[in-house]
Amino acid sequence: MLVALDGECFAEPWTQQMWHDELERPFCELWGAFAETGGLAGYCCVWFLAGEAHLLRIATASEFRRRGIGQLLMDKIRQRALQTSCEQVQLEVASRNVAAIGLYQRFGFEVVGRRPGYYRNPNDDAVLMTYELRG
Ligand SMILES: CC(C)(COP(=O)(O)OP(=O)(O)OC[C@H]1O[C@@H](n2cnc3c(N)ncnc32)[C@H](O)[C@@H]1OP(=O)(O)O)[C@@H](O)C(=O)NCCC(=O)NCCS
Repeated sequence: MLVALDGECFAEPWTQQMWHDELERPFCELWGAFAETGGLAGYCCVWFLAGEAHLLRIATASEFRRRGIGQLLMDKIRQRALQTSCEQVQLEVASRNVAAIGLYQRFGFEVVGRRPGYYRNPNDDAVLMTYELRG
């Protein structure tokens, strides 16, 4: 379910082995949002490490988009970040990913940097964004 949805949502999906390796890490968490029918509607994968949360992956199945699932997952990340004493949530996002940047900005993330040419498929810069949990 997860590998299939990841394949629908990303140009470079993670394989089953990559998910397995990622989830072996003690500081890595995977959270899912499920439809009433039981299907996976969205998920996020986050590292909570050394006082920082790093969002690796977040996606909503196309048929469930713009219904607040992304926001729900971000709320969960904030909750877990607070529970694990993180001071900041960090992420990288492709500069042309309007939907994701819209989600992050609405949540309160701020742009803190840019990595030119960071993504290859398709070519794009990475925008670095952070969300401060202190105060
Ligand atoms: C980014 C993504 C996770 C958003 O998920 P979602 O469940 O549709 O998000 P939500 O419904 O919670 O949207 C919350 C807010 O984000 C912003 N937003 C979401 N999609 C948007 C879009 N296509 N264009 C502009 N803003 C958008 C809006 O402010 C939205 O609030 P609104 O619907 O009241 O206007 C989804 O588009 C997705 O899975 N994209 C493909 C995977 C991806 O690019 N992941 C991010 C990189 S790791």
